[in-house]
Amino acid sequence: MSANPLAAMPSATTDSLAVRRLQLTDFRNYATLRLSFEATSVVLTGPNGAGKTNLLEALSLLVPGRGLRRARIAALARQEAQPGLWAVAVGVRTPAGAVEVGVGRDPKGMEGGRDRRLLRINGRDSRSQAALGEVLHATWLTPEMDRLFLEGPSGRRRFLDRLAFGFEPAHATRLADYGRAMRERSRLLQEGPADPGWLDALEETMAESGVAIAETRRAYVRHLGKAVAEATGPFPGVALETEGLLEAGLATETPAAMLARYRSRLADLRRRDAEAGLATEGPHRSDLAVRHGTKGMPAADCSTGEQKALLIAILLADARLQRVARGTPPLLLLDEVTAHLDSARRQALFEAIETLGAQAWMTGTEAALFQSLKGRAQFFRVLDGAAVAEA
Ligand SMILES: Nc1ncnc2c1ncn2[C@@H]1O[C@H](COP(=O)(O)OP(=O)(O)O)[C@@H](O)[C@H]1O
Ligand SMILES: [Mg+2]
Repeated sequence: MSANPLAAMPSATTDSLAVRRLQLTDFRNYATLRLSFEATSVVLTGPNGAGKTNLLEALSLLVPGRGLRRARIAALARQEAQPGLWAVAVGVRTPAGAVEVGVGRDPKGMEGGRDRRLLRINGRDSRSQAALGEVLHATWLTPEMDRLFLEGPSGRRRFLDRLAFGFEPAHATRLADYGRAMRERSRLLQEGPADPGWLDALEETMAESGVAIAETRRAYVRHLGKAVAEATGPFPGVALETEGLLEAGLATETPAAMLARYRSRLADLRRRDAEAGLATEGPHRSDLAVRHGTKGMPAADCSTGEQKALLIAILLADARLQRVARGTPPLLLLDEVTAHLDSARRQALFEAIETLGAQAWMTGTEAALFQSLKGRAQFFRVLDGAAVAEA
């Protein structure tokens, strides 16, 4: 249709992952929102508090995990809405064909006091987060991550694990299994004399899933490390390393030996962990060490702009690997991505996205920063929980 200004737009890869329809219901500051998209990238502009990040957050819930704000399920419901239910539904083009995915708050879970998400894939209820990971993949960059290298290891560990989901979908399930067993063990230890058989079983689960988690992290970082070592255009080369008890152990020991060693270590640590009220050693404490590849400098000592460039280099390299592994790059959710980027890097980023063939969702307060994407991306103006396509 000639009335459609997007009809002539290039779409770099004909079957790469692309959101074609989005519907939000009582989600954050959106009462209802229905939008359709071409397969090209999307630019969302609007003032602070308009709902740009909320929109990216909605998309981030379509992959395993808690989304880009790690929000509680209840916090996602529009404040004014009763009874606090929310839903996100998307139609996505994938290499395997069109897929409909819906995620929302489970009304039954609310009644029972066990808040959960309800997940539907092609109209059928799905229980597993991993199933979602098979269908969709997305990575994101948020302004909070500008501090990733300056803060403690938890943010970097989550960043690594989130990227590793795309590499190994079972990673999400293993992290959940590990976390559940770890919390249960901490609870038992704190409550006083615990059944040793029960503790043994929980520690067995922690050791099994923990070693698998560490193995995946090591394998993924080796894989990514090769792809990111060389500088690409204005983006620096990056040197990566996993740091952690199990990750280090696996450098010299077999997984079976590491599993046995960690299991007996956990048994030895029971008294200390009971006093601490938590598990003091394990893959939940690991870190990702990042260095500027060319300068050899730890990322924390690089400039803010360089840190952002390191993050983007990692994200783009991961997306290229995913494109090879899965036949399509992930959706890229890039919140306020132009902050701290000079214009050379900004243009290089736009070009890299296009070369990749990814549908990127980019936000910013000023449309001017995205000027060079005019005609190549779809622009929407976001205001007070509504989004309007711009010509
Ligand atoms: N559960 C909620 N119900 C209603 N409004 C919300 C909810 N959560 C956040 N908001 C509001 O959504 C608005 C838009 O947020 P956000 O998407 O972060 O804006 P921005 O466009 O700056 O990225 C904020 O003003 C915030 O107060
Ligand atoms: Mg925002």
